[in-house]
Amino acid sequence: MSVLSGTAGNPLRDPRDRRLPRVPGPCAVVVFGVTGDLSRKKLIPAIYDLSNRGLLPPGFALLGFARRDWDVGDFESLARKAAQEHARTEFREDVWRRVAASLQFLPGAFDDDNAFDTLAQTLVDLEASHGIQGNAAFYLSIPPAAFPVVLKQMQRTGMADNDQAGGWRRVVVEKPFGHDLASARELNALVDDVFTPGDVFRIDHYLGKETVQNMLALRFANTLFEPIWNSHYVDSVQITMAEDVGIGGRAGFYDAAGAARDVLQNHLLQLLALTAMEEPVSFDAEAIRTEKLKVLNAISLPDDHARYAIRGQYDQGWLAGQRVPAYLDEPDVPKDSRTETYAAVRLGIETRRWAGVPFYLRTGKRLPRRVTEIAVVFKTAPHLPFDVTDTVELGHNQLVVRVQPDEGVTLRFGSKVPGSAMEVRDVSMDFLYGEAFTESSPEAYERLILDVLLGDATLFPRNEEVDASWRVIDQLEEFWAGSEPEKYRAGEWGPRGADDMLAADGRVWRRP
Ligand code: BG6
Repeated sequence: MSVLSGTAGNPLRDPRDRRLPRVPGPCAVVVFGVTGDLSRKKLIPAIYDLSNRGLLPPGFALLGFARRDWDVGDFESLARKAAQEHARTEFREDVWRRVAASLQFLPGAFDDDNAFDTLAQTLVDLEASHGIQGNAAFYLSIPPAAFPVVLKQMQRTGMADNDQAGGWRRVVVEKPFGHDLASARELNALVDDVFTPGDVFRIDHYLGKETVQNMLALRFANTLFEPIWNSHYVDSVQITMAEDVGIGGRAGFYDAAGAARDVLQNHLLQLLALTAMEEPVSFDAEAIRTEKLKVLNAISLPDDHARYAIRGQYDQGWLAGQRVPAYLDEPDVPKDSRTETYAAVRLGIETRRWAGVPFYLRTGKRLPRRVTEIAVVFKTAPHLPFDVTDTVELGHNQLVVRVQPDEGVTLRFGSKVPGSAMEVRDVSMDFLYGEAFTESSPEAYERLILDVLLGDATLFPRNEEVDASWRVIDQLEEFWAGSEPEKYRAGEWGPRGADDMLAADGRVWRRP
């Protein structure tokens, strides 16, 4: 029997229908570090977009906390500008008035007990003034070094305690989750000491992207792909996250992190996990996270790391007709920095499904263009009944999930060239989100903030996933310790070592 068939009248009224917009119950969102980049470019605009889509509850408050001598008026101008400049949906005065009415600002330093006492009291007061019913999500949009002090303040004042609050209390932790396995464990222990583990939401914003979630739909809602999704048919997988931008004003963070910690440890390993995981027993958070974790635990690194774990650093070059400086000449980067701005690695997955299939991962800044994609490259046909010259332009079949931009999926396969000869050449079949659907995709942060407020952890990595990812990165960092990254010219596709790595395996990188 269909799930909906028992409903009299409008079948869409069935409360089990997950297509209905889900609106969270009354709550507050407290943003620590509300004047920072992430908050202005992503968090506040996402809150505005949610409000514009009618997805925020009537009892709602957005509380900003930062070390500024500000009142709520200053916060309102910052938030308004953020929404006007960065929101996905149209800026409308009536929506803005609703958001503005929910704003509160609390000035304070993280080690200031008084400020946190005031915050705790404000949350109590918001029950009467905004009807938040004791529910609050705390967003740590702050440098990781400040996590411990803020968490301890929350513990001291009891604001992380569900029972004391008489509602739910959740915390959102932004990556990087630590610097290596040891520090990640320390951080996790601290967070879990203050919050109930089920109330901790670790954000990897790639999981909020529609195209990333589509990997699950593509694989598990169709019959077409799954039978060939294994080492019998797949030759290799290439996962690319390329950016044309440099490090912007983030030298302080970036120089201590580098490309492997910034992107490989989280975004790329999560993409790998979704590509390689087995079918979950259901679509709930635990089932999906369990399957991803199995993949992450089965990752192997190559023995020959000099060849298969490459890091690079951009030198000066040209991008979009403009001269751009070398990484070492970016403001606030030490002149002798050995931090990598590019990383490429060959990983294996030691399972029956994937044994012997290389997963090539690469990420870099100042590459020719911004593109993220997952390319599943298939083996060539075991036999070709054509003259050898007929198929010189036939490559490997490929399924490419285009995460961004030009969101969609491309299938590449050989096709007969019109004419009297049986000449076969590669062609593409394209699915484009923008053409197939009228709805535009929500921003990743919009989706993820909504999920936090709904208490849905499906798209948030679990503690153990973070640990398993660090185990991979720690090994890489150990290989690389003390070595110089190879230089590559800004505007080119990374260092030569990355091309040599694939050439050694008789392969080439896709040019996305
Ligand atoms: C962040 C990294 O997690 O992702 C940044 O810290 C990177 O270095 C950014 O620029 C890219 O995100 P997106 O969504 O623009 O691909």
